Amino acid sequence: MEAAQPALFPVDQLVGPRGPEEVSRVRELAKACSSCRLHETRTHVVFGTGNTLRPRVAFVGEGPGANEDAEGEPFVGRSGQLLDKMIAAMGLKRKDVYICNVVCCRPPDNRRPQPDEVFACRGYLFAQLRAVQPEVIVALGMTATEVLLNKAKKAKSVREKWHNWEGIPLRATFHPAYLLREPTQKKAAWDDLKAVMLKLKIED
Ligand code: URA
Repeated sequence: MEAAQPALFPVDQLVGPRGPEEVSRVRELAKACSSCRLHETRTHVVFGTGNTLRPRVAFVGEGPGANEDAEGEPFVGRSGQLLDKMIAAMGLKRKDVYICNVVCCRPPDNRRPQPDEVFACRGYLFAQLRAVQPEVIVALGMTATEVLLNKAKKAKSVREKWHNWEGIPLRATFHPAYLLREPTQKKAAWDDLKAVMLKLKIED
């Protein structure tokens, strides 16, 4: 007999409840999640943090690294330090924004999350975004962009234009880890963030 599959968090369940209480409810469900293999090797479930009540921006990364897994917070390592600088350069503070990832558990050896892991976790991501209702979503890197736009696209063709996710304006930019490897792309990333600032009516 086949082993029973763990239940996935239902992607379509959420249309109504919004705000901090809903985020807490989903966080508790995520903390107990064993829907994919990543739960076997995680130290912490790394759930989203920040402003849960209509933040100016929700930044969506790929998945926790070693530091995030150890601390249970998204973007606390080197990529996080760069993301902090990006947020500050936009004239915002961490408390103004929401920060989360496509997958809540660390993929071993910092590999990209596999399609079934993304599929298992995307309900938590969607539920967080629906609950916090950011003014703008910024997808950091291709994993977040592909999941939120529901298609595989070339980095070149997704940047420099507005998309939308469930009616929320979405901009794609480079992942901070990529920018650490390719600092020459920082100028292009800054152009992406300036487009977000313009949308949010933040003075440059
Ligand atoms: N990279 C990510 O995509 N997310 C984190 O939380 C840290 C590094």
